[in-house]
Amino acid sequence: MTSRAIDQLETPALLLEQGCMKQNIARMREQLMRLKVGFRPHVKTAKCIEIALAMSGGTPGPITVSTLREADYFADHGFTDILYAVGITPNKMGHVAALLKRDVKLTLILDSLDAAHVLAQAAAALPMPIRALIEIDCDGHRAGILPESPDLLGVAQTLVDGGVVVGGVMTHAGSSYECRSDDALRAMAEQERARTVLAAERLRQAGHAAPVVSVGSTPTALFAQSLNGVTEVRAGVFVFFDLVMAGLGVCSVDDIAISVLTTVIGHQRDHGWTIVDAGWMAMSRDRGTAAQPVDQGFGLVCDVNGNALTDYIVVSANQEHGIVAHRDGATGKALNLPVGSQLRILPNHACATGAQHARYHVVNNSPQITSVWERIGGW
Ligand SMILES: Cc1ncc(COP(=O)(O)O)c(C=O)c1O
Repeated sequence: MTSRAIDQLETPALLLEQGCMKQNIARMREQLMRLKVGFRPHVKTAKCIEIALAMSGGTPGPITVSTLREADYFADHGFTDILYAVGITPNKMGHVAALLKRDVKLTLILDSLDAAHVLAQAAAALPMPIRALIEIDCDGHRAGILPESPDLLGVAQTLVDGGVVVGGVMTHAGSSYECRSDDALRAMAEQERARTVLAAERLRQAGHAAPVVSVGSTPTALFAQSLNGVTEVRAGVFVFFDLVMAGLGVCSVDDIAISVLTTVIGHQRDHGWTIVDAGWMAMSRDRGTAAQPVDQGFGLVCDVNGNALTDYIVVSANQEHGIVAHRDGATGKALNLPVGSQLRILPNHACATGAQHARYHVVNNSPQITSVWERIGGW
């Protein structure tokens, strides 16, 4: 606990509106309950034990991680059912073995025969079983095996022959971030569901139990109308939301729970610029809204209480300098705030901005900091 208020913080500093985060978590949990599907929140956005517990409903439950460092950290805090959702490689098998030996139920993912052979080889040397999901390409976005591909059955058989447990299938509809309408988001959610269920059915017809059908991205999770055949949803960025999600229509700007507190350090009045101490090191270089109808620069500016100044964005960023200006570039519309004034900047991409910071300063609709929560980074 701390008795400080945000005006005493050295900036830039990451703020977390706890009430807002709680609402975002409640919204996702209610949606998944309505769809009668399990929840395996992705904790890579938060990388923080207090937040992972809130996402899990108060006690440790199934989680998804993006690094084995996260797996270590969350296992240290009582999370034992962990999906590591990045394709496995040989140089990580020692780390995987160490996690399995401490009784973490770690599930891996893979999408190639090469990786299946790596797992089979590692399984032979371990006293406990290795469990894996086969990654499915549901949208051409990134990794995965197409559900119709003969490789799907080849990979499953290689795993079984090597003594690896085929847990089922997983996918991530990353293309949902490129959808431009509610209808497109609903269609993408259905595509994610149908393609992954098809892959699971093919595995079952070939004699594999494949009990797990794991899907998830925040937009598809919130726009899905049916998740028949799916057993669990992984979503992460919903916990804070961000400007990319607001641009997609998945949330409103008011739902965004994290912001970077910054201080005015100077002006270039001829240009209509206000210079602040949040550059790309504090915001990240993520320009995810650049491809959206409303480009939010390096972040949308709010007053110190978090009320959006909807026409002001960080138009340009150096390492430790952000340039705040009116979004239409008009020089006569500079924010007239004295040096030392504080502002908040909403992030394009919560995962990327969060990763630039070591801790969250937790606030509750007031300038008072109620807690400071540490977060982890690295691999
Ligand atoms: C494999 C995987 N699963 C789930 C997610 C969660 O997606 P979102 O952050 O949109 O909720 C991600 C995000 O990148 C992911 O890579």
